[in-house]
Amino acid sequence: MKKRVFSGIQPSGILTLGNYLGAIKRFVEMQDEYEAFYCVVDYHAITVPQAPETLRSQIAHTAAFMLGAGLDPEKMTLFVQSDVPAHTQLGWIMECTASFGELSRMTQFKEKSEGKESVSGGLFTYPALMAADILLYDADGVPVGDDQKQHVELCRDLAERFNSRFGKVFKVPEPIIGETGARIMSLQDPHKKMSKSDPNPAGYISLGDSKDEIVKKVKRAVTDSGREVAYDPEGKPALANLITIFSHCAGKTIDEIVAAYDGKGYAEFKRDLAEAVVEAITPVQEKHDALIADGSFVQILIDGARRAHEVSSRVLKRAKEAMGLSVLLDPEAVRL
Ligand code: TYM
Repeated sequence: MKKRVFSGIQPSGILTLGNYLGAIKRFVEMQDEYEAFYCVVDYHAITVPQAPETLRSQIAHTAAFMLGAGLDPEKMTLFVQSDVPAHTQLGWIMECTASFGELSRMTQFKEKSEGKESVSGGLFTYPALMAADILLYDADGVPVGDDQKQHVELCRDLAERFNSRFGKVFKVPEPIIGETGARIMSLQDPHKKMSKSDPNPAGYISLGDSKDEIVKKVKRAVTDSGREVAYDPEGKPALANLITIFSHCAGKTIDEIVAAYDGKGYAEFKRDLAEAVVEAITPVQEKHDALIADGSFVQILIDGARRAHEVSSRVLKRAKEAMGLSVLLDPEAVRL
């Protein structure tokens, strides 16, 4: 039997090159080898306020970009989280399994709540819902970028804690993180992750950017002092980030890129980098546009939700029974 993977993407803005290289491109590579479940996690997106029309359109674009990148409905299951009721049900159970202390230690919560006047309860308990997402599919692995590693580790802890209290209900999953590309950094600050919520759009390349915008953003990307194209993540983090992006977009190794620009300056390197990014993204954009135009992604999401419901409802039932919840699941068991 094939091993299972599960992963999710928030529809909280147009996806970035970081989402593409750190996650979606790898989802596509994994769909042959694994039984894969991929989810547009809209409940996660509402941990911060979202306008209904914007949220609806971002769900559509996120799904269309994922399919545009090459996810194939014949090979994997793609669905929207709020269409599958087991997620919030097991989410609550995971909230009751997690401790306040452990949720307080999540670095993403600390970053996202810092300096905010008002923070939703959901932003705090978010990793418990994420754990539920993963555990509902008996996932062996979770392909994610580096920033989600701590959340997957919490998921493992929660699964183990639950299993030791109630018997072996959940499979304990492993994070699957790429060696390079798992942490694509901002084009304006190599110490900050490339993120769709960056207030400065020059920091990220979005999958929706035009060729001209991409060329401009790459040209304006910060580089380190010196003239030589050398890969030195410690000493020259900005350049190392650009070389990593180049390597993934062009399908070449870091060494090949460095060798190709031996004795050449940053200008030539950046010109070719922009071209490689455009070449990598353009086919994804074209397929995305076609899917949005003909609306065919909608049926794919409906079929995906059905399949996800079948699988997740069985795991949820196992968890509820093990905990002693519900009358309907087993009416005989509650006759005292
Ligand atoms: P999200 O929506 O922020 O990001 C989606 C995926 O993209 C990766 N990623 C990056 N990878 C490399 N470089 C970057 N700059 C970069 N930015 C984002 C993320 O690591 C992620 O893999 N909590 C998750 C969504 C989620 C989830 C899940 C993931 C909810 N439930 C269950 C896995 C399994 C999140 O906010 O990802």
